[in-house]
Amino acid sequence: MKNTIVSQISEYYSEKLNRHGETPQGVDWNGSEGQYLRFEKLMQLVNHPQYFSINDIGCGYGALYEYLQATYKTLEYRGVDVSADMIEAAKRRFANCQNASFFHLSIPDEMADYSVASGIFNVKFANKESDWHSYILSTLRQMNSYSAKGFAFNCLTSFSDKEKMRDDLYYADPCYMFQFCKENFSRNVALLHDYNLFEFTILVRKS
Ligand SMILES: C[S@@+](CC[C@H](N)C(=O)[O-])C[C@H]1O[C@@H](n2cnc3c(N)ncnc32)[C@H](O)[C@@H]1O
Repeated sequence: MKNTIVSQISEYYSEKLNRHGETPQGVDWNGSEGQYLRFEKLMQLVNHPQYFSINDIGCGYGALYEYLQATYKTLEYRGVDVSADMIEAAKRRFANCQNASFFHLSIPDEMADYSVASGIFNVKFANKESDWHSYILSTLRQMNSYSAKGFAFNCLTSFSDKEKMRDDLYYADPCYMFQFCKENFSRNVALLHDYNLFEFTILVRKS
């Protein structure tokens, strides 16, 4: 099951990159405004801007690293992506950056202070809702186990306008996700559902 999902994702996003290049559209976003707004929400996770390490799950061509460089001078960034084309592009793009590394993996194989994932749960393809739901929860469990201080992710919301919803996308229930994270990962969980996209962000702080 997991292998089938991984190859569907990889094929889908490699095609986007090949068609649109290293742009927000190349990772299936509408534009850079939304892409950066998502980064801003996810990075509310990091309270103390001194040195920290971060895993970016589904890093694409490395746009988050570019965003972080402008704000945080001392960080260790590790991007992973199931699309080999994305990883190749990111490695080329940031070849001279000592504090960034990129790996063709679905989940990091090293612990970091924080982990974030932007946009990895949105496209479910033709998978059953229940299978995709289980896939999300198992990915969150893995993110939790590789994050010492906390992790953050976003999902499309089930509170989207019905007429705009698509069968190939997954709309998660924000209340369920909040409760799941509270009960399984930490008492300190924030649900951000107050920005102008049809999605929400969850921040899980462990300390
Ligand atoms: C919507 S794009 C967003 C890329 C990047 N996070 C950004 O915001 O610019 C999602 C990316 O996540 C990757 N991806 C999806 N599911 C993944 C998973 N379980 N593990 C690693 N990469 C994944 C895809 O290949 C794709 O490059």
